[in-house]
Amino acid sequence: MEFLRVLSGIWISMKMINVTKTYLPNKEKYKQYIDEIYNNGWITNNGPMVHKLEKRLAKYLGVKNIVLVANGTVALEIAYRTLDIKGYAITTPFSFVATTSSLVTNGIKPIFADINPNTLNMDSQNIQNAITKNTTAIIPVHVFGNGCDVESIDRIAKKHKLKVIYDAAHAFDVKYKGKSILNYGDISSLSFHATKLFHTIEGGALIINNDNLVKKARYLINFGIENAESIPELGTNAKMNEFEAAMGLCMLDEMENISTKRKILYETYKKELNNIVSFQEENKNTTLNHSYFPIILEDEKQTLKLQKALNKEDIFPRRYFYPSLDTLNYIEPKQFMKHSRDISSRILCLPLYPELIKNEQMRIIDVIKKKVNR
Ligand SMILES: Cc1ncc(COP(=O)(O)O)c(C=O)c1O
Repeated sequence: MEFLRVLSGIWISMKMINVTKTYLPNKEKYKQYIDEIYNNGWITNNGPMVHKLEKRLAKYLGVKNIVLVANGTVALEIAYRTLDIKGYAITTPFSFVATTSSLVTNGIKPIFADINPNTLNMDSQNIQNAITKNTTAIIPVHVFGNGCDVESIDRIAKKHKLKVIYDAAHAFDVKYKGKSILNYGDISSLSFHATKLFHTIEGGALIINNDNLVKKARYLINFGIENAESIPELGTNAKMNEFEAAMGLCMLDEMENISTKRKILYETYKKELNNIVSFQEENKNTTLNHSYFPIILEDEKQTLKLQKALNKEDIFPRRYFYPSLDTLNYIEPKQFMKHSRDISSRILCLPLYPELIKNEQMRIIDVIKKKVNR
């Protein structure tokens, strides 16, 4: 949305700047894929575009098995059902609501382990402390693409015979010690929603290490159907369609450009805002995918003041993640996560997307510099 506004008597062009803006790849290329879909006459149900995208993504990400699905929320739900998760699962209170709500929807009780207030990921010691005889799984999140302490989570899970499902919705193409972080745990789930670094309009994926489980996940996303005569599992409909897969194929061709632009913006924020606000502590063993730029303020009052000042300039950062998930009214038993609640009250994610231009970014930085005095 572009419009004019008077500033000191001068008409200038102002653009609303949101926390993110969907990346739309080359239209001509997308049209070519649409033509192919029309020629095939195959628009959903495990079609050729989905096959092509699964193959290309597996190679691009460096993973063995990938199953594409309709969105990141069902990816989590299919992961729980593929691994027969029941009872109590330990998860983070600092995430998008789908991490927790997908558990509750599937009759699994979320038990929260508080975050490390620096990395914003679940603290391994807190995971260890939360384990009881009823615990069946750990559901960590690589928050804002910052890799979890995967080795210690692995150790804890092995010791207590727990399944691990990483909600890797933010961790597209993140590497841990040179290899895809998506290979850790039993399953990693991804979201390919329009706002994500890589998207398929709506979409998601499961990265599954065990080959035998891939077959099961594929039945589960297709009503539990194996073939015309056999329905071995209770399933649902979680399929990705051909138009979504075609969008993914177009996006993959442009990832280098997307990543380069994001990296420049990320590094500019980091340099300009250093010593003014606090940043998420990055896991030194992982690469960054520059998908989010969270800043942590001193307290909620300062956060809301800054948000208001930015909004006044038509800049709309988001309070990701707010509220802390341990405050959800449908959580039983009731829990109180000190660090998650504290961080939730004083964090803002700044606008970060490839089309954000330097002038716009400098406008954002200027407001922050003016409003935050340290
Ligand atoms: C951490 C996390 N998990 C799960 C999801 C759900 O993904 P989707 O919107 O594709 O259903 C999101 C979406 O933003 C997310 O950020």
